Formats: sequence, C-alpha cells, structure tokens
Amino acid sequence: MYNKNMNKQDQRIQLVASSEFRQEVDKWRRNQTDIPSHSESIRRLVKIALRLEKGETMKMITAIIRPHKYNDVRDSLITIGIEGLSATEIKGFGRQRGQTEIYRGAEYKTTEVPKIKIELVVPTEKVEEVVDLISKTSETGKVGDGKIFITDVDRAIRIRTGETQEDAL
Ligand SMILES: Nc1ncnc2c1ncn2[C@@H]1O[C@H](COP(=O)(O)OP(=O)(O)OP(=O)(O)O)[C@@H](O)[C@H]1O
Ligand SMILES: [Mg+2]
Repeated sequence: MYNKNMNKQDQRIQLVASSEFRQEVDKWRRNQTDIPSHSESIRRLVKIALRLEKGETMKMITAIIRPHKYNDVRDSLITIGIEGLSATEIKGFGRQRGQTEIYRGAEYKTTEVPKIKIELVVPTEKVEEVVDLISKTSETGKVGDGKIFITDVDRAIRIRTGETQEDAL
C-alpha cells in the first residue's frame, strides 16, 4: 500500500508574492522549532490549510474504562499503530452513582469508583477504528463499563522536532 514515491519532491512550483507575504511566512518559519526552509514552510502551511479546509482536524478520544481492562486496551491500540497515549487513574461515577445495586426508594449514597482515563489524539480518519477497538476491548456488558468522548483538536506540536499536526502525533 505504501508508495515510496508519494512524498518525492520533483515538481517545481513557481511562486510570486509580496514582500509582506514573504515576511509573514518568514515570521511563521522562525517560530518553528526546526526553522524549516522557505519552501518547506510554504509546503507545511499549504498542508495545514488543506486539512483545515476539509475539516480534517485531529480528534481527542477520551475513554474512561475499568482499570483491569487497561492493559488489553493499550496493547490492542499499539497493534493498530497508535504511538502514544496518556493514562490517568481517576475516580468517578455514572448513573448508578457508584453503587452496584439500586434499592428503590432507598436514599442514595454516592460513591466514586476507580477508573482509568485514557486520552489519545488521533488523525480524524482513525477515530472509528480506535473507538470500535476500545469499546470492544473494554466491554464486559455490566454497568460501569465506562464512556468514550470525542472532541476536536486544533493543533499539535512535537516539542523536540517542531513537527506539527498529524506529523506530531
Ligand atoms: N457524563 C459524564 N461525564 C464525565 N465522566 C463520566 C460521565 N458519565 C460517566 N463518567 C465517567 O465514566 C465512569 C463510568 O461510567 P458508567 O459506565 O458507570 O456510566 P453510566 O452512564 O452509569 O453507564 P452504565 O449504566 O453502563 O453504568 C464514571 O465512573 C465516570 O468516571
Ligand atoms: Mg454506571
């Protein structure tokens, strides 16, 4: 599937612009950690614009799961090429307010139960695959299996290299 000529830069594109345009590009360029060349800056800026135009921002997937399911979820995500995530031990409650049994008419006492919160930012086209995998891997069918929330992510930056957007994931 991977075509090694896909990123070959063998097409010359002439560009005439104002000095203000050039200065703006240069200012952006100097703010990048790796200070790309002018050509590379314009390539990156055009790619960012094209992704924004298509609404192809990245997504943050926040999954709250049972702690004993975490290792399986993490391992399965690695098998589909996920290269990073954050996991936090949290406590929370859902509709049963942490109670395993509901007594009609009984006064509720809310108890937070331990869960793991996974946060991972993925390219938009990977969202369905990741959500399906997390759901499938963490489901027991009993109350308290958890939730998945999906939100838009505008920007991402890899600090060491200055790579941005999906290249930074
Ligand atoms: N609306 C919410 N916002 C943020 N976190 C939530 C929300 N609902 C649930 N959580 C978190 O998810 C955890 C698991 O929730 P849980 O699966 O029990 O939800 P539920 O709505 O009660 O569904 P179920 O009936 O399947 O138990 C909670 O302990 C809490 O940390
Ligand atoms: Mg619940």
